[in-house]
Amino acid sequence: MNSIEQTLSIIKPDAVERNLDNEIKEIFKKNGFKILKEKKIKIEKSEAEQFYKVHETKPFYNDLCSYLSSGPIVVMVLEKDNSVLANRELMGATNPKDAAEGTIRKKYGISIDKNSVHGSDSVENAKIEIDFFFKE
Ligand code: CMP
Repeated sequence: MNSIEQTLSIIKPDAVERNLDNEIKEIFKKNGFKILKEKKIKIEKSEAEQFYKVHETKPFYNDLCSYLSSGPIVVMVLEKDNSVLANRELMGATNPKDAAEGTIRKKYGISIDKNSVHGSDSVENAKIEIDFFFKE
């Protein structure tokens, strides 16, 4: 069954640094996503640590948080039918090396760390992640 969902998307520092944010936003729009909210921000490492808290015990946690706070990012609330899954499909595999042709990470990703975009992995986490960046 289809249902309108919202998901959180982040265009990561490697992509913003290469001025790819508008190009990536166009890909989302062309694929039927509405960008309901967006802002370009730079976050502190402590905020990245909070955002990625689910990965706290992973060996890559420290580098991941340093990286996400290393430069400007664009955070967006995307809306579409089944947007969580649709966004994950459009992004492609976490490691750009494994990402399918036509996906954002295949096209723009540099490495597993610098993989250009983040997307929520479940409806539940999407709500938490949207609140994290956009709670009024
Ligand atoms: P993202 O979807 O933002 O979620 C967590 C991030 O950790 C992931 O994208 C990758 O950029 C990064 N990462 C680094 N190393 C790994 C790894 N071995 N497995 C999964 N994610 C990793």
